[in-house]
Amino acid sequence: MKKFVATLLAVAMVLSMSACGSSSNDVLADGVLTVGTNAEFPPFEFIGDDGQPDGFDIALIKAVGEKLGVKVEVSNMEFASLVTSIGSKIDVAIAGMTVTEERKQAVEFSNPYYDAVQYVILPKDSAIKTADDLVGKTIGVQLGTTGDFIAQDIQDSTVSAYNKAVDAVNDLINGRVDVVIIDKNPALVFESKYSDSVVAVDGAQYGFEVEQYAIAMPKGNTELVEKVNKAIEELKADGTFDQLVEKYI
Ligand code: ARG
Repeated sequence: MKKFVATLLAVAMVLSMSACGSSSNDVLADGVLTVGTNAEFPPFEFIGDDGQPDGFDIALIKAVGEKLGVKVEVSNMEFASLVTSIGSKIDVAIAGMTVTEERKQAVEFSNPYYDAVQYVILPKDSAIKTADDLVGKTIGVQLGTTGDFIAQDIQDSTVSAYNKAVDAVNDLINGRVDVVIIDKNPALVFESKYSDSVVAVDGAQYGFEVEQYAIAMPKGNTELVEKVNKAIEELKADGTFDQLVEKYI
C-alpha cells in the first residue's frame, strides 16, 4: 500500500510539473495564437478592403495556425515594437522580418520562408547610380528596419525614419529625401503605384546583401519553433505555400 501511495504521489508530481511546463511555455494552450504584424509592407502585409490586415504573411500565419489547431488573431502595430512585444502583448510576429544576429539575442526565429534584398527607390531623374553616390545623402527608411540600419552605416548619411514606409516614399516624391531604402517587394509595389515619379533599383548594385524572412517567437520556446517549422514544411509539401506566393507576390 505504501508503495502504491508513493507511486501515486510520484505520478501526481510529474503530472503537475509537466502542467507547469506547458502553462508557461505553451502559447497555444488557450487555442489562440496572437500574432503581431505591421501592415505597412505590401505584398507581405497591408490593410485590405475590409479594414483588416491581409497579405502573404497574414495568409501564411493563418495556414500555420490551422495546422496547429488554433485560432489566429492579428494585431497591427509599429514595426519597431514587434520584437519587444513578443512574449507579452503578442505570441509571435510575422512582418517580413529579416533574421539578424541582434534580433536573435531577443527572439527565436522559424526556418526562413523568403529571401529578400534591400532595394533603392529613386526619383526618376536621380543621379544616384552607385554605392559611392549614396554618401552624404538624406535617406528615407521605415523605423527599425534593416533598411534603417543600412542607411545609418552609409558615410555621412542623414536618415529620416518613418513609421510608415509609404510616408518615406511620399517625402521622396516631395523632394524631402534623396533616396528610400526598403525591401525588394514593397519597393516594387511602390514603384508601380508611383510609376510617374520613381524607379526601384536592385540593392545588389549598391552592395546590399541577401536577407531572409522568418517568423519571430518567444526566446527559449523551442517547442513552438519546432511546431511552426513542421507546419511550414507541411504547407510547402502540400502546395499551399506556393499557392500563397502565386496569389500575393
Ligand atoms: N525586412 C525588414 C526588416 O526586417 C523590413 C521589414 C518591415 N516589415 C513591415 N511589416 N513593416 O527589418
